[in-house]
Amino acid sequence: MHTQVGIIGAGPAGLMLAHLLHLQGIESIIIESRTRSQIEGTIRAGVLEQGTVDLMNEAGVGERMMREGHFHQGIELRFNGKGHRINIHELTGGKNVTVYAQHEVIKDLVAARLKAGGEIIFNVGDVSLHDLDTSVPKIRFRKDKSGELQEITCDFIAGCDGFHGPSRASIPGSILKEYQKVYPFGWLGILIEAPPSAPELIYANHERGFALLSTRSPEIQRLYIQVDPGDDIASWSDDRIWTELHARLETNDGWKLIEGPIIQKGIIGMRSFVCHPMQYGRLFLAGDAAHIVPPTGAKGLNLAIADVRVLERGLAVFYTSGQTEQLESYSATCLRRVWKAERFSWYMTSMLHRHYDHTAFEHRLQLAELDYVTSSRAASTSLAENYVGLPMEW
Ligand code: FAD
Ligand code: DHB
Repeated sequence: MHTQVGIIGAGPAGLMLAHLLHLQGIESIIIESRTRSQIEGTIRAGVLEQGTVDLMNEAGVGERMMREGHFHQGIELRFNGKGHRINIHELTGGKNVTVYAQHEVIKDLVAARLKAGGEIIFNVGDVSLHDLDTSVPKIRFRKDKSGELQEITCDFIAGCDGFHGPSRASIPGSILKEYQKVYPFGWLGILIEAPPSAPELIYANHERGFALLSTRSPEIQRLYIQVDPGDDIASWSDDRIWTELHARLETNDGWKLIEGPIIQKGIIGMRSFVCHPMQYGRLFLAGDAAHIVPPTGAKGLNLAIADVRVLERGLAVFYTSGQTEQLESYSATCLRRVWKAERFSWYMTSMLHRHYDHTAFEHRLQLAELDYVTSSRAASTSLAENYVGLPMEW
C-alpha cells in the first residue's frame, strides 16, 4: 500500500487531519488500534474552543454540532459558598464556550471520512514506524491484531496516536526532550441521567477538593470530583459520590444540585507533558502524542485540532510548491501555542484543586487568586481569552 500521508490514530487529531488533507486533495490512510464502536463510545472531553468550532464549520463537519451543541456565554467559578460568573462572551468580544462531546466530534469526522471514500483501518495491532529519516517512511501493522504483517509506504507519517502510542517512542532518545509534571490528584468523572442543575459550567474550589459541573444534553449531565489518582473506582459508591458533590458545590443561596441515576463512572490521573521537538525526519507528532494537559483548562482536544491545522497548511504548501519551510517550522509554531495552553491548564489546576501538602497560608493565597480573577476586569479578561482559546496562529 502507498499513500501520501500515513496517519496513526483515529482520535480528533488523526481524523481531523485526514479530513483537512482531503479538502486539499491530499490522500491519506488512517490506522487505528481500536474498533469503530470503541472510538465512538469513549467518553472524554466536552468543551470546544471558538477556533475549533470555527474550523469544524469551515471544514463542513459542524452541522450536527451547531444543532446539538450547547453554546454558553460564561462560566462560573465557585468558592466560599458563592458563585462568580466570568462573562466570556463580553470579555472576548463575542466568543462562546461550546459544549459538544468529543465522541460526537469523532462520529462526525468518521462519517465525513467514510462518505468521502477515505480509508480508516480499524482494530490493527503490532504497529511500528520505519525509515523516518528517509523520503519513504513506512508503517507496519497487522490487520485485526494478528493477521499478516502489512506495510504502508508514505511521503509523511502523522503520529496522532495519543500519549501511549508508538510514534513518539520512534524518535531517537538522543533527540527527544521531555518535560513533565504529574499531579498528586485525579478526576472521578460521572455521567448522570438528569436535567441540568445550572445554565453554565461551574468550576468549584472547596476545602474537600475540586468539583466541576458540566453538561451533555437536556437529559444527560457530566460531573467531576477531585480524588486520589490511586483510588479504586469500586471504593466510590454512588452515595459517596453524591455526598462529595453536594458538599463541594453547595452555596449559601439555596442552589440545589439535581441528582439522577449514574450511568457511567471512571477515574483519570492528571499530568502536564510536552515533548520537543514535535517532528523527526518525515514523522510529525500531533495532539496527545506530543503533549498532555490536565483537563481543568479544557484544552487537550483543542490543542490536537490546532496542531493538525498547522500540519495541514505545511503539507498543502509542500504538495503545491515543493517548499518545505512551513513544514520545518511545524514544531516551533505548535510549541509556542502548546506552552501557553500548558501554562493556563497548570494555572487553572493549581487555583482550583486542594493540594494535600498545602498549608493554610497557601490555601489563603488560592482564595485571594480566585477573588482577584473574579473581581478584576483585567484578570477576568485574561482567564476568558485563554479559556475560549488563543488565536490559532499565536
Ligand atoms: P486520542 O484521542 O488519544 O487519540 C489517539 C488514538 O490513537 C486513539 O484512538 C488510540 O486508540 C489510537 N492509538 C493508540 N495507539 C495506537 C497504535 N499503536 N496504533 C494505532 N492507533 C493507536 N480536552 C479538551 O479540549 N476539552 C475538554 O473538555 C477535555 N476534557 C477531558 C476530560 C477527560 C476526562 C479526559 C480524559 C480528557 C479530556 N480532554 C479534554 C483531553 C482530550 O480528550 C484529549 O486531549 C484528546 O483526545 C487528544 O486527541 P488525540 O487525537 O491527540 O489523541
Ligand atoms: C468537561 C471537561 C473538562 O475538562 C472541562 O474543563 C470542562 C468540561 C466536560 O467533559 O464536559
